[in-house]
Amino acid sequence: MAFEVRITPSILNADFSRLNDEIARIADVSDLIHLDVMDDIFVPNFTFDFESASQIIKNCPIGIDAHLMVANADQIAPMYAEIGCASVTVHAEATVDISATLKKIRTLGSRAGLALKPQTHIADYADFADDVDMFLIMTVEPGFGGQKFMTEMMDKVRATRKIIGDRPIWLQVDGGISLETIEIALEAGADTFVAGSAVFNAEDPAHMVVSLRQRALDMAK
Ligand code: DX5
Ligand code: ZN
Repeated sequence: MAFEVRITPSILNADFSRLNDEIARIADVSDLIHLDVMDDIFVPNFTFDFESASQIIKNCPIGIDAHLMVANADQIAPMYAEIGCASVTVHAEATVDISATLKKIRTLGSRAGLALKPQTHIADYADFADDVDMFLIMTVEPGFGGQKFMTEMMDKVRATRKIIGDRPIWLQVDGGISLETIEIALEAGADTFVAGSAVFNAEDPAHMVVSLRQRALDMAK
């Protein structure tokens, strides 16, 4: 099977006052739109309540990759699956019954993702691999865009790739992804890349998405 690369741009750094236009600019060249949901409890920042997130999801021309940085993930994740997100990712640190919640997300028709903060060890969560469609290894502390990529997370990415083995599980990295760091993350085993500020601070966001994909594909050759 050919190596697949996915670019899932985060709209965290887009202009929220004209979000539909911002999404429209990159939709054609993106695999999914990464939606960062923050509640000011699990992380010290707030983005959307469920009502506003639902509007964005409803109006988005391509699938949504919901990254839930919220407490009470067991209760909230199924709501995001129910309204049709392509993928719903919960944080291991915010989920009480991880297996049940991942299964519920899948039953409701979404891909199920499990995210780990920088201090959280993948070995403690390897047993959930059968319930997971995507592991998300954070390469910054969740909460804000524009932070520096943590190269020291690459050992965790490598360990996660090993755990995945032959399973068709996506391995996503999120935080500080740029034309330079995408190479480092891909080399360690990531195949799905969130990029926020790199895309929306670029003069031509769509062109940046295409360039990131090209850089990854060139590396994967
Ligand atoms: C951080 C978010 C990321 C963020 C990435 O908590 O989960 O998705 O938007 O932004 P950059 O690419 O700027 O690090
Ligand atoms: Zn994110």
